[in-house]
Amino acid sequence: MRLDHIAIAVSDLDAAEAAYKALGLPWQGREEVSSQKVMTSIFQSGDSRVELITPTAEDSPISAFLLKKGSGLHHLCFEVADLESEIVRLKAQGFRVLNETPRPGVEGSRVAFLHPASTAGVLVEIAQKQIGK
Ligand code: CO
Repeated sequence: MRLDHIAIAVSDLDAAEAAYKALGLPWQGREEVSSQKVMTSIFQSGDSRVELITPTAEDSPISAFLLKKGSGLHHLCFEVADLESEIVRLKAQGFRVLNETPRPGVEGSRVAFLHPASTAGVLVEIAQKQIGK
């Protein structure tokens, strides 16, 4: 599984974006993911990306994360070819799949998350790219 992106939750998107631009990663722009009530700011790093994510609503899951833990690593995302069959396979392996029905992700992808208790304390996302991308 290719590492598609690393997501970092931030409370100040402008400041974090400026920091990662200064670090030297090519900036790809921002994209809102309304289903998860977040704004993302995306940087390229080789075959992978760094996504800064900030809540767009009080009831965003990222708001709760920031209140509890502050800014920092939020999740890793691995690309899969067939999301539905991976969900079945991982459940059979004993992973706690948080989204049995895939949710929309960035750039038309479909995603599901695995509970951090199953994955060494880090939230893991698996994503299938939009067909044709
Ligand atoms: Co993600």
